[in-house]
Amino acid sequence: MTHRLVAAALTMLISSAASADPPPPLDAITAANVAVNSYANVQQVRTTHIALDLAVDFAKKTLSGSAELQLERVDPGAAEVVLDTSALDIAKVETSADGEVWLSAKYTLGAVDEVLGAPLTVALPPGATRVRLSYATRPEASGLQWLTPSQTLGRKHPFLFTQSESIHARSWIPLQDTPLVRATYDARIRVPKGLRAVMSAEMHDRPDATGAWTFHMPQAIPGYLIALAVGDLGFRSTGPRTGVYAEPALLAKAAYEFGETERTLQLMESAFGPYRWGRYDILVLPPSFPFGGMENPRLTFATPTVITGDRMLVSLVSHELAHSWSGNLVTNASWNDFWLNEGVTEYLTYRLLDMQFGQARGDMERVLGLADLKDSMAHLDRVDWSLLRQPPAKDPDAVYSSVPYERGALFLTWLETRFGREAFDAFLRGWFDDHAFRSAGTGEFLAYLQDKLLSRQPGKVTQAQIDAWMHQPELPDFAVLPHSDALAEVDRQRAAWLEGRSTPDALPAAQWSVHEWQRFLDEMPDGVTLDQLRALDARYHLTASHNAILACSWLRLALAHGDTAVYPAVERYLKTVGRMRLIKPLYRELVKTPQGKAYAERLYAQAKSGYHPIAQQAVERVLKGESGG
Ligand code: BES
Ligand code: ZN
Repeated sequence: MTHRLVAAALTMLISSAASADPPPPLDAITAANVAVNSYANVQQVRTTHIALDLAVDFAKKTLSGSAELQLERVDPGAAEVVLDTSALDIAKVETSADGEVWLSAKYTLGAVDEVLGAPLTVALPPGATRVRLSYATRPEASGLQWLTPSQTLGRKHPFLFTQSESIHARSWIPLQDTPLVRATYDARIRVPKGLRAVMSAEMHDRPDATGAWTFHMPQAIPGYLIALAVGDLGFRSTGPRTGVYAEPALLAKAAYEFGETERTLQLMESAFGPYRWGRYDILVLPPSFPFGGMENPRLTFATPTVITGDRMLVSLVSHELAHSWSGNLVTNASWNDFWLNEGVTEYLTYRLLDMQFGQARGDMERVLGLADLKDSMAHLDRVDWSLLRQPPAKDPDAVYSSVPYERGALFLTWLETRFGREAFDAFLRGWFDDHAFRSAGTGEFLAYLQDKLLSRQPGKVTQAQIDAWMHQPELPDFAVLPHSDALAEVDRQRAAWLEGRSTPDALPAAQWSVHEWQRFLDEMPDGVTLDQLRALDARYHLTASHNAILACSWLRLALAHGDTAVYPAVERYLKTVGRMRLIKPLYRELVKTPQGKAYAERLYAQAKSGYHPIAQQAVERVLKGESGG
């Protein structure tokens, strides 16, 4: 591995020395053996297994108990292990050589960094192979959201969920919080009577004799994929290895919406190799879940905003399911290589959509993805436009955007076009197989690409072109951009209406999917008048839409044109939905005028307690006028 990395680093340094730009920072290239965004001393010690024993206390908003880490010395002389922690109260630290006899250990908690938390350094006596930490989380843990009963559908029981990616696992487990380290895990979780715990692991359908829910994860995964949720949850099967968990009132709708999951799994397997995780279930969270989806292994976490009754937003499942190959099986070595997780997954998502619903549907979503990319770039500093993060970000959340997703997918589409689908699919499948259950960085990917494609079909792409994708801000002018006939037709319809050649009634909107509506609204030219927008709303009741995606596009547009009549709807929306991708655009629109900004601040003060800690930070960045995608 080291040889290949050095070779990759050299190739990149040489090729970029030839261009006018400065060479990429070495740590971005060699990320595969240096922990970034983490204090972990991975050169000395690595965790191989984690055993959690935790009690969930909704009144105190704490998890408390212990985490036992089994360690492997990479450096035989290693005398300490450094763990990541964030706002954890550590009560006791012990070490053991055999898991039987435990000795109290010397440890120090270092200074707190606002983003990274505090390093916990534990002295390891010679022969010690385990460390056990007794600890409790704090109510403000950034990776946990504690919901009151009123924030759930059933309104009777509280709810808790974790969101560990990218660097929040450390706020509920002391661990080596870097995607370089993979461990299997076991867990015992005690929850109040009547509630159920679920995790990204093998599950049982009832608690054990002591009342604890127990879990076992046999595949080694990075810490950011450890996940837990607790609530009033039911389960319904949707296929031999698929099912849904949701609050009872949503279970039937969720089972219908995600009823095609087994077929999606099979399509993915037919093209890119076996699904290696056993089951694939989906947990539907309350609407404050800050993401659309999260690819926790064996148990994708999903926003309820995709449950629309028409299965039109299931590309989210395709995306999270594709992560079972790109991200979970082959994991980005550091968060600077985030495009390797998300860009490859987004490319696979579009390929899956072609297979599931036909190329026309895939192309629609590709075109919407490109619009997202352009929107993100407009809100980002130029340094954040390239695929490799430069300089490496200290806080991955602060630089989150569509760039790694959509530019990454465009990079792979370009490669596919140059080398042909057959050769490219074989390459990708080989990438997954040859790196299964390992972490790999951009340097390794580019070296593998060189070895398996570039050197075998010389002259198809140049090193300078690859450099442009990785390091240049502008989207390469040789990118292969998507086209959708259906969305081009929507553009024509919009133009005809705006130019007075058509009326809202005459638009073929009754047949439009959410994607066509999104295109229609998101690409509305600035010149549209408030009267025109109101006529549209009167005809199609957009303000009252229950489709959260459509509502977001509409409300954003109405706000952009000063339509204060939508304020009550905006308020309802921002007080129920916590999905960042849907609420950020509305806040961003509001802060553009002094009056809107004052309103946004008042609204946020009321909505804040319902948002996840990560979403709170994201909205606060918008209110402060900071850049971000
Ligand atoms: N892994 C991401 C979510 C994530 C990224 C969480 C970075 C924390 C840090 C997940 O797979 C994802 O990409 N979700 C998207 C949905 C998707 C359909 C593009 C989202 O939540 O918007
Ligand atoms: Zn993703």
